[in-house]
Amino acid sequence: MADAATTQRVQELREQLHRHNYLYHVLDSPLITDAEYDALFRELQSLEEAHPELADAGSPTQRVGAAPAPQFDEVTHPVPMLSLGNAFNEDELAAWRRRAAGILEREDFAVVCEPKIDGLAIALTYEAGRLTRAATRGDGVRGEDVTLNVRTIKSVPLVLQGAHPHPSPLPGGEGVHAWTLPPRMEVRGEVYFPRDAFRRMNEEREDAGEPLFANPRNAAAGSLRQLDPRITASRQLAIWVYQLGWAEDTETPPTHWETMQWLRELGFRVNPEIARFETLEEVQDYCRRWEQERDAKNYQTDGVVVKIDRLDYQRHLGFVGREPRWAVAWKFPAERAVTRLLDIGINVGRTGALNPYAILEPVQVSGVTVRQATLHNEDDIRRKDIRIGDYVVVERAGEVIPQVVEPVAEQRTGEETEFEMPALCPACNTGIVRDEGAAAHRCVNAACPAQQYERIRHFVSQAAMDIEGLGEKLVAQLLDAGLISDLPDIYALTGEQLTALERMGEKSSENLLAAIEASKQRPLPSVISGLGILHVGGETAELLARRFGNVERLMDASQEELEAIPGIGPIVAAGIASHFANEGNRSIVTRLREAGVALEAPEGWNAAQADGPMPFEGMRFVVTGRLEGFTRSQAEGFIKERGGQVSGSVSKKTNYVVVGEEPGSKRDDAERLGVAILSEEELTALAEGNLG
Ligand code: IVH
Repeated sequence: MADAATTQRVQELREQLHRHNYLYHVLDSPLITDAEYDALFRELQSLEEAHPELADAGSPTQRVGAAPAPQFDEVTHPVPMLSLGNAFNEDELAAWRRRAAGILEREDFAVVCEPKIDGLAIALTYEAGRLTRAATRGDGVRGEDVTLNVRTIKSVPLVLQGAHPHPSPLPGGEGVHAWTLPPRMEVRGEVYFPRDAFRRMNEEREDAGEPLFANPRNAAAGSLRQLDPRITASRQLAIWVYQLGWAEDTETPPTHWETMQWLRELGFRVNPEIARFETLEEVQDYCRRWEQERDAKNYQTDGVVVKIDRLDYQRHLGFVGREPRWAVAWKFPAERAVTRLLDIGINVGRTGALNPYAILEPVQVSGVTVRQATLHNEDDIRRKDIRIGDYVVVERAGEVIPQVVEPVAEQRTGEETEFEMPALCPACNTGIVRDEGAAAHRCVNAACPAQQYERIRHFVSQAAMDIEGLGEKLVAQLLDAGLISDLPDIYALTGEQLTALERMGEKSSENLLAAIEASKQRPLPSVISGLGILHVGGETAELLARRFGNVERLMDASQEELEAIPGIGPIVAAGIASHFANEGNRSIVTRLREAGVALEAPEGWNAAQADGPMPFEGMRFVVTGRLEGFTRSQAEGFIKERGGQVSGSVSKKTNYVVVGEEPGSKRDDAERLGVAILSEEELTALAEGNLG
């Protein structure tokens, strides 16, 4: 049993972590560094591991970890989740207000304006201040139980402020005691995919050759409907809360505005952009301003929701059908337009993939002129039956490049022509191949200038070597000037060559050379991902770096060896093997080494011998107590790199418990279950095959 001091420490840690989580994810103003947060988190984790009797689903350590569910259960909403009427212009907005004023028989009522988030509606149920259920909107009456997935969203509080045994006040949370926490309540909000996280995810997917998500909304929906919560957890969704659904047995604030302040104090993420106004003019100004500013936000919006503030007025106004009379959605102009598809062009990507794109008659889509749009691949063009000369529907969805949605078949004249993929690469005239079973056509000439450009652009990008100041234009300029033709050439650039370029001064040339020099010390995963190997994105690069420890070993790995790595499938393994089967690609690595680029794993990674067998293959370890020669995470890394698994608690399946100073209860567990105990020295001996 845990003693009183441990129990108290666990409670303290949980509260601190909830608080720091709130400061980071809800208020966006962290007080401690990530490393400090991690240290607290790990301390809590190890105390919880040592004292399973203290387990608590509300603990910050319990966001992920649930096993995949076979399906989602159906949930009936106690209060239906309705929709909103729309106002597409100022007259319609004014008409909405007039109707409400007529029913209320007064003109002087305040309204609250808030961004209309383009995500998915979610209802969160809290009992005694703890999240017990999260449900999708579904058809408004019945939705799906997605609790395990929603728990992984860091801006969704698991435990509300006021439900902690010893709450520490949150910034701006002084009023939290003015309203009692209801025994049961439901809070509604919109779950969405932040644009930056969405962009990063799609980049990774592209690098890994996986299909891209069309827009953040679809990606958020897809992420919430994953049966495996670990996938949802990896997607970095967020929430904005916009309504109190219902509350049991307690008095709650009399206005929407005060309700939102109160919800914020309870720990919910409430949009700071919400505003309260008295006049229609102010509301119109707010809507117009939002239309201008929406693109700059890290979340997608499709309008502004205008709500009458007083809740007694809301009740009096009630509903017509499924729409409240007390609120309306001011909708931004559509992000779609119809225009003519003039031609289909071809882009050659860094791995030689030929990507068709639409050349359009310029058209305005929500204030932006669109001239080009993606068409994905040939199959997609055929499936949608898009022909050159067609009128097509073009969509701009947030951050994503505009896309051609469909042709307007009724407007065909018969002059339209079907698209044919070229037989030769448009950039270098080499023959095109189509990979078996894959959608993409590919140019296989490594010296293709279009590929060179894309390869270098990828190599210097933030996701790889992160050479500041070496943007797309400069890459093109350097290629055109004949100063570079492949990756290693970057390291041979001189100040003289650079300053001779147009728009390049002494200072920028010096800065660029310094940035190039600094890039020589990037960590191994960045280098591997920078090489532009087919299907190798950031995550795979990390796996490879851990397994091989340096690029040369990776280069000599066989396809079988690569396939044996957990997390690497046959397609990725084949991509890597064929990349390094090419002499040109091998010589790039040699030249990078000669230029002084670090091709080794960072210190402490201690990569396993790629050629020997994995000595810990199939073995499960638990590490406990303080070790001499390793930190805890180094010891875990040491085991994992040799093929072993590390878990947090001792069970019958555990093969070894590695015990350091002051080991605690895990040592006892090992003895009780008859699991072998190793000292630190014995662990290293076991790795070297020298153990008794
Ligand atoms: S209030 C009676 N506020 O829009 C409905 N909804 O078209 C009250 N939405 O299903 C909804 N942002 O998913 C409200 N700030 C906001 C919103 C918002 C997005 C969504 C919500 C709702 C849909 C209605």
